[in-house]
Amino acid sequence: MAKAKLAVLISGRGSNLQSLIDAAADPDYPAEISLVISNRPKAAGLARATKAGITQTTIDHKDFQTREDFEAALDDALRLAKVDYVCLAGFMRMLTPNFVNDWRGRLINIHPSLLPAFKGMHVHERMIDAGIKLAGCTVHFVSAEVDAGPIIGQAAIPVLPGDTADTLADRILQQEHKLYPACIRLLAETKARLSGAVVLYDSSVIASGDLSNPPTE
Ligand code: GAR
Repeated sequence: MAKAKLAVLISGRGSNLQSLIDAAADPDYPAEISLVISNRPKAAGLARATKAGITQTTIDHKDFQTREDFEAALDDALRLAKVDYVCLAGFMRMLTPNFVNDWRGRLINIHPSLLPAFKGMHVHERMIDAGIKLAGCTVHFVSAEVDAGPIIGQAAIPVLPGDTADTLADRILQQEHKLYPACIRLLAETKARLSGAVVLYDSSVIASGDLSNPPTE
């Protein structure tokens, strides 16, 4: 079967991009990264793409008058590369409902909380302040609302006594790096698919018992 083609969109450090690069280095992984796009010229993650020999480009939102113009450039680059899925990986730019609708079912995001709890920014600090006991991360299809949309997979971890926002962020990030490649695998192998407001899974996934917390090893 042909590999699914991914575009990965970043704004910063790109550690989730790296996890997808590492996963795709395995010949058996069912997806490959065709393109990395950053909206920030100085994003550290761009060097990861270069090192892996992946085509990368910067589409700087500051070069465009409107959000729509920026997204038109983004859309052109994605269509030219003929990608199957667009993976947001720390891409810190709000996308308009038009763009989100155009890429519905093919636009995926990772967020460092168990959505729908703790959407938005400063997530780890807010979780510590709220005194929650269970944290984690979510991979989901993107809908027009920020950090929302049909959930593909989640990984949960306990919040430990003495955790700070930083220690919690580190441990969640370790899970992110396993969860994102695992969820993309499910999609690329057509073992998970969008059906209205929810994601449906192949019976093999359901039988494996990994449904609520996909295979992370
Ligand atoms: C990750 O923790 C990701 O979940 C988060 O940004 C970080 C990017 O790190 N995304 C969001 O908060 C989206 N709302 P990375 O650049 O090292 O992958």
